Amino acid sequence: MASPTPNSEQKMQSVVSLCRRRAFIFQSSEIYGGLNGCWDYGPLGVELKWNIKQAWWRDMVMSRDDVVGVDCSILMNPRTWEASGHVQSFTDPMVDCTKCKGRFRADQISNNQCPSCGTKNSFTETRQFNLMFKTYVGAVEDNSSQTYLRPETCQGIFANFANIVSTSRVKVPFGIAQIGKAFRNEINPRNFIFRSREFEQMEMEFFVRPEPQEAEKWFEYWKTFRYDWYLKHGISKERLHLRIHEPSELAHYAAGCADIEYDFPFGRSELEGVANRTDYDLKKHSEFSKKDLSYFDAETQKRYFPYVIEPSAGVDRALLAFLCDAYTEEPERVVLKFHPKIAPVKVAIFPLVNKDGMPDLAEKIYKELKHRWNCFYDDKGAVGRRYRRQDEAGTPFCVTVDGESTASYTVTIRERDSMLQERVAIDQIQTYVAKRLEGA
Ligand code: GAP
Repeated sequence: MASPTPNSEQKMQSVVSLCRRRAFIFQSSEIYGGLNGCWDYGPLGVELKWNIKQAWWRDMVMSRDDVVGVDCSILMNPRTWEASGHVQSFTDPMVDCTKCKGRFRADQISNNQCPSCGTKNSFTETRQFNLMFKTYVGAVEDNSSQTYLRPETCQGIFANFANIVSTSRVKVPFGIAQIGKAFRNEINPRNFIFRSREFEQMEMEFFVRPEPQEAEKWFEYWKTFRYDWYLKHGISKERLHLRIHEPSELAHYAAGCADIEYDFPFGRSELEGVANRTDYDLKKHSEFSKKDLSYFDAETQKRYFPYVIEPSAGVDRALLAFLCDAYTEEPERVVLKFHPKIAPVKVAIFPLVNKDGMPDLAEKIYKELKHRWNCFYDDKGAVGRRYRRQDEAGTPFCVTVDGESTASYTVTIRERDSMLQERVAIDQIQTYVAKRLEGA
């Protein structure tokens, strides 16, 4: 992780406090003091999250002929996690401070000094700590009923591989995608929503012929496709990086991996991983389930275990990157310069004053636009303050109904970043906004 810039701590604090103030993100069960590593999304946050997931689904599934979607259960037969290797090796090295009883990841300790109480050489021996949350299915709490909350969504995809092949018209190369919750009992959840204990993933397993060149070709393809996806949705190029893993860093199942990294205010860190998982997972699940998960290729008349290329992204991490990237302090205002496609509110509608038929007309416009986009109606306070409120929410367009509107049947539309205003005929508002949103 690269070191943070001098004012980055301040920037992170400003982002966190804006998130709280403007109802993007709250601590989970805050009234009880919260729960470390768990977060709730408020009215603006949930819209932003939906828009990110929808943008991913549109580009990874809907607009393609070679990817289908699934939505699998969070609880799975525990054999899944034996086959995947998680029971044996999904661990982090952990130490306890004997002085303050704090628990830390051993690889994040420097100079043998406790990050909490500052005591030196106070740690226990390093132990391996499994990150999966255990739970019990049914009324009896014993080993036979124990399972886990899934620590990644992709195993549901592998477990359904044969179902999809036998029921859908998919032919290698093809992908299966899923968005959903994952849970990891992280030793040190930190950096706001960056490392949480409950989070969401957007994963796609892309099955290809098991020839090294074929896997390499698709690995390159998805690496570039995913990097470009963040740029397309507004992340600045200078803060986005691709890092190829050294062989020593690779997970036990991977033949290659590239991280898409972002320069967060707390340093450069992983946003998404693109991995060549080889035929490891399908072979392991075949072995453990005793079901044949090999694939018959009608074109080559051969049976084989496909290789898998996996782009695996975190929804919450992407959301944090979009927030940090959009956060801009200008002399007169704080503005979230979201790409219009992911902005939580697309249009705000203001009657300039509460008289002369303005509210009626503004409400009529609001109701019409609301069918199509998430909109916000605001008739409170000076118009300048209303603009500032929408700037902080990242709303790309503000429509103001003013003194001229009832007579000329026009409004002004103010664009968030340039703050320029244009007078537009009321029956042209939808075309105006659609052109800028969809063409963006
Ligand atoms: N199926 C492969 C897999 O799960 P991973 O690198 O462990 O790989 C993929 O996770 C992505 O999930 C990460 O790049 C990150 O965006 C997100 N992620 C992982 N752990 C997370 C956590 N504790 N909090 C938030 N997001 C997390």
